[in-house]
Amino acid sequence: MANALEALFKPIQIGNFKSKNRILMSAMSINFGVDDNGYVTDQLTQYLVERAKGGAGMTLVGGGNVHPAGMELPTLPKLWDDGCIAPLKVLTTEIKKYDAKIGIQIMHGGRQCYLPEKVGPSAIPAPAVVKGTVRALEIHEIKEAVESFGDAARRCYEAGFDFLELHGAHGYLVSQFLSKNSNIREDEYGGSFENRTRFLFEVIDDIKKKTAQDYPLGIRINGDDYMENGWGLEDSKKLAPLIEKKGVAYLHVSAGVYGSKELTIPSMYREQGCFVYLAKAIKKVVSIPVAAVGRIKDPKLAEKILQDGDADFIAMGRPLLADPYLPQKAKQGRFTEIRPCIGCCLGCIHAVLQREPGSCVVNPDVGREFRLNKKETSSSEKKDRVFNVLVVGAGPSGLACARHFALKGHKVTICEKKENHGGLLSLAAKAPGRDDLNDILEFFSNELNRLNVKIEFNTELSKELIEKINPDKVVLATGSMPDMPLVKGLFQSDMEILTCVDILEDDENQEDIKDNILVLGGGMSALLIADFLAEKGKNVVVLNRKSSYATEMSSNDRYYLRERLKENSVKLIKNVSIAKFLKNGVVFKANNEEQSLDNFDTVVIAEKMSPIREAAKLLKDSNIEFHYIGDAKLPRHLMYCISEAQEIIG
Ligand SMILES: Cc1cc2nc3c(=O)[nH]c(=O)nc-3n(C[C@H](O)[C@H](O)[C@H](O)COP(=O)(O)O)c2cc1C
Ligand code: SF4
Repeated sequence: MANALEALFKPIQIGNFKSKNRILMSAMSINFGVDDNGYVTDQLTQYLVERAKGGAGMTLVGGGNVHPAGMELPTLPKLWDDGCIAPLKVLTTEIKKYDAKIGIQIMHGGRQCYLPEKVGPSAIPAPAVVKGTVRALEIHEIKEAVESFGDAARRCYEAGFDFLELHGAHGYLVSQFLSKNSNIREDEYGGSFENRTRFLFEVIDDIKKKTAQDYPLGIRINGDDYMENGWGLEDSKKLAPLIEKKGVAYLHVSAGVYGSKELTIPSMYREQGCFVYLAKAIKKVVSIPVAAVGRIKDPKLAEKILQDGDADFIAMGRPLLADPYLPQKAKQGRFTEIRPCIGCCLGCIHAVLQREPGSCVVNPDVGREFRLNKKETSSSEKKDRVFNVLVVGAGPSGLACARHFALKGHKVTICEKKENHGGLLSLAAKAPGRDDLNDILEFFSNELNRLNVKIEFNTELSKELIEKINPDKVVLATGSMPDMPLVKGLFQSDMEILTCVDILEDDENQEDIKDNILVLGGGMSALLIADFLAEKGKNVVVLNRKSSYATEMSSNDRYYLRERLKENSVKLIKNVSIAKFLKNGVVFKANNEEQSLDNFDTVVIAEKMSPIREAAKLLKDSNIEFHYIGDAKLPRHLMYCISEAQEIIG
């Protein structure tokens, strides 16, 4: 078909290579796929092969470390000995089979490393890195670091990479030299703009010297560090033409450092394409290709950015974790089949920062590609035996499970007692800034239509339904509901008692909720409902009986939510031990101090959730195989809902 995405699928010349389209898979340190030596394994290769098969014109290996002192995280490719070359060659050879260009990002973490003893331009710890010490590099160590970039580049060149990307952004070593707030050196590497950029230029020279003058080297820079006294857009505009003069092939404009006001990996709270304005500004001052990045998950937005002339190509990170086949599907106009990244940051960067293998909440296959050899939509996958499957509940687990069974060629019916799909996820999507959650529900709904899976709404599991469908397997994805806590005085109080679910479910009566509200809970649901109510102008106090907030969210996502709560003057009190509820208030101890609050109209319960398992009674005496998944198994976050839905049949 004639494709509307002409700009996105127009080839682009970058240095000495041509990419078939303008999609670059952004570098991601994914924290799997290296062996004990730090050499890449088949796991990393197949993860990237999947993205190359999916149609990205260019893919990047993330987080290639050039020096032992620069390890950002333990499980990243190490590029400081020649032993890395052979396995990297296997990787590049595999990817080139799919008409994709393969690059690798090379970096030194500097003061943003996991190591207890870190180095940097100056002995200033990075914000948000609490552990360890930082020592200023000696001049001879700076020279060694420069050399280590060039040596690593030579190894990558020999391993057959089509291009390199030097990591000069995100507060790692190169960017630490650039920014005044991390570089207070008084020698030739600090002080003036010229001195602070010296390290970068020496690195570029060393790479060029040890590879080839025309070997395509791109540089990732920050358009803005978003830090006080940090690197800003005007600095980048000054630097970019100087980089161009050095014969660099492209510039990739990102943003943010550890602890910055805006995060490098923004969550769903930030608008799509939030950093494009930075690329646009850089593009005006150079003639080499410029890439934009940052929540560009919609191919139509990518097209618009290119059509508007704001960038020359588009980097996508998480959107290609969520769906490696995004480029191919977009090219074929199959937009509704693209599994969307929801910007939760939970399965990917949060896991990586917890030192777990990176994955994706909506795509549990990330990191398992080497085992799966998956063909997502092929009906030739049909198993010998076609099962008749009844899924009870059309929340995210039920929808994901039904899709998975249908993709494997089984016959699936869903029954849902409500009139809509989505379960608690569709309620969470009503909180401010959580619209992306609807995207995944819409994806499942479109997929189930495409796969002819019937959803019977307003239908509970019953004997009659079981007889009618006569299923071989039943999957109970019946979700969970808020637990009512037993706290002295709660049910004798004059305050209205509602749960977070009551409020979000009942659109009509939301306006009747009175102004002064106590929220009991400290998890995600409590914070989301507090935000929802505060945005409606309510006075909200959150009483958290635990010592931390919303640990089931990613730290990136939680950061934005906490900022919103601050702005909306929501009062958060933790370590609360409630003595009793009063007619219009509460008496409690927090941090060993007895306190009381009065003049409240409503208590919102948003604490523990209990699985809903009523439907199982109908199955216990039958011979029908049944499984619980998602919250019905154990209330947890979305990540488990979707992966469990797949694991039932593998
Ligand atoms: C798991 C993960 C690891 C990342 N590692 C790197 C990295 O090694 N180097 C880098 O420059 N950016 C890294 N990033 C940032 C991405 O390249 C990208 O800039 C960011 O995710 C925003 O783009 P997106 O919205 O398309 O994901 C990482 C992001 C994620 C999610
Ligand atoms: S885990 Fe969340 S943010 Fe990360 S790629 Fe998947 S959907 Fe996107």
